[in-house]
Amino acid sequence: MSMRIGIHDLSLATAGYVLDLNDLAAATGVDPDKFRIGLGQDQMSVPGLDEDIVTMGAAAALPILERHGRDSIRTLMFATESGIDQSKSAAVFAHALLGLPDTCRAVELKQACYAATAAMQAALGIVARNPEETVLVIASDIARYEVDTAAEPTQGAGAVAFLIAADPALVEIEPIVGVHTADVSDFWRPNDSATAVVDGKLSIDAYLDGLTAAWDDFRARGGVDIAEIERFCHHQPFTRMAAKAHRRMAEHTGTELGVELYETSTVYNRRMGNSYTASLYAGLAALLDFDDDLAGRRIGFVSYGSGSVTEIFTGVVSAEYREFRRQAETAARLDGRVPVSVERYRALHSGGAVSSAADVEIPVETDGPFHFTGIRHRARQYRA
Ligand code: COA
Repeated sequence: MSMRIGIHDLSLATAGYVLDLNDLAAATGVDPDKFRIGLGQDQMSVPGLDEDIVTMGAAAALPILERHGRDSIRTLMFATESGIDQSKSAAVFAHALLGLPDTCRAVELKQACYAATAAMQAALGIVARNPEETVLVIASDIARYEVDTAAEPTQGAGAVAFLIAADPALVEIEPIVGVHTADVSDFWRPNDSATAVVDGKLSIDAYLDGLTAAWDDFRARGGVDIAEIERFCHHQPFTRMAAKAHRRMAEHTGTELGVELYETSTVYNRRMGNSYTASLYAGLAALLDFDDDLAGRRIGFVSYGSGSVTEIFTGVVSAEYREFRRQAETAARLDGRVPVSVERYRALHSGGAVSSAADVEIPVETDGPFHFTGIRHRARQYRA
């Protein structure tokens, strides 16, 4: 008899500002339906200069600690594409801001949008060995492309934190997975670049190819038949991508899969924009918050990170998940964002990469619980 292990709690945070994509469409002379329907995006979260992956990630984790305490957490894993240091992990900064126990390991994981799933798998293994421990996983990213490109409207920012534990209150993660790695140059970010390099069309094909290959591996390993998966949560760099993934899954398995099986998972991502590693788990947050008929149902997850790694896994939702929703809290975070003009967003976009060459103080401008306050002696400074 194997132990039930999985996601015990989950919480979402985002940046302090929001840009309406209708404004971006007007400013760039694009039909707003291209963004709203063609990409499936309504808004994008825009970080203030006092925000980064650490402040958003810690903000996502805080409500989990308030609900469950800190004592059982002996591991913090921070998954991100938008790292803030080449050596020191964002996990160590978040560990300090969150006041986690000293007797805790902290590490960062990277593989474009995929790393949070690798963190989750490692966490499941740790809890399997030591069931009295829990692992806090933080996925946090800022998606930044060059302005005036096709990718600009798919930017965004957000973080999801989740707690992996035995006897989970939300979703038991099942042990059989399908994985696939292929060296593809579809999206990457050189060390000297604040924005990602992307071949958008190739990245869509690479995602869909990864999906079919990972599905085949999932089935070869004994994963359940497609008919036994009752909801889908696809990685969403822009929410229309979930539609493409869903269609490919139906074609590849020779089944009919209705849009109602994934549509609810796009609710938060439509408003937040791309949050890279967090986006799949933001999809899960929306499913748990808005689908009233999930108890006992199996969700199929497609995790994709350009470059590329794909992982397909499944989870079964607990009978009592509705008691642990975070609907109101997440609505407050999304509704609480301050709207910005295209000009202001563009200024924040170019100001987002602060040089470490000279000391600088960054004034507090957003009202989240944590702030990036500048550079001192080349080191990043934070304040709770
Ligand atoms: N009304 C409704 N839909 C419209 C429209 C309009 N007025 N104008 C265009 N569209 C649709 C297009 O038909 C297309 O739909 P399709 O995907 O079903 O073919 C969609 O909007 C996108 O337009 P298109 O011109 O094909 O692409 P683009 O040049 O704007 O680039 C991406 C789109 C996704 C390639 C680009 O935003 C990008 O590079 N994003 C970053 C990379 C990424 O997220 N990759 C995902 C995999 S990880």
